[in-house]
Amino acid sequence: MVKKNACIFISGKGTNLSNLIKKSRDYNFPINIRLVVTNNKEAKGIIHAKKNSIPYIVINTNSRYFENQIITNLNIHNISFICLAGYMKIISKNFLKRFRKTIINIHPSLLPKFKGLNTFSRILKNKEVKTGCTVHYVNEKLDEGNIINKKSFFITKQDDEAKLKYKTQKLEYFAFPEAIYKIFKDN
Ligand code: GAR
Repeated sequence: MVKKNACIFISGKGTNLSNLIKKSRDYNFPINIRLVVTNNKEAKGIIHAKKNSIPYIVINTNSRYFENQIITNLNIHNISFICLAGYMKIISKNFLKRFRKTIINIHPSLLPKFKGLNTFSRILKNKEVKTGCTVHYVNEKLDEGNIINKKSFFITKQDDEAKLKYKTQKLEYFAFPEAIYKIFKDN
């Protein structure tokens, strides 16, 4: 199979990045990770790029030219697919116009519920019965693109924010790779 060249955008720990790197070693997994982009020079996830000799760039989103810097690097590495894995910045309309290929995102709630930030505290406050994660296509609206994959679990009385995050992320490590398989299964 001809694998797509993918770029993963991160802002934090990069546990999803690490999981996708592991999956990409599988012959049948549809992507190879060729580039990592982060807006946070302190992002712990950079270590996974370093350890696996994957090129990475740190961008300064306050600079006027940061999108040019990203697009240039996407072109250099012939990237045709982007995964947002805990990237805590909004992808601009202009960027979507310039990168006309697929971008997907993972979000720690059952979309369309709880778009945006601070999902776990809002889920608890709202006394939800179930929660989970969603993988979706990225469009110009925040957390609103078509849904590719969702996984859920029942919330217990013992669940606080930390436990919800732990349980949600455990599901993310299945949901993200599954979504990628789904996207490319007919290609
Ligand atoms: C993930 O749980 C992801 O769902 C969330 O950030 C975490 C990143 O963890 N994304 C968002 O909240 C996006 N709105 P990681 O850096 O360990 O992969």
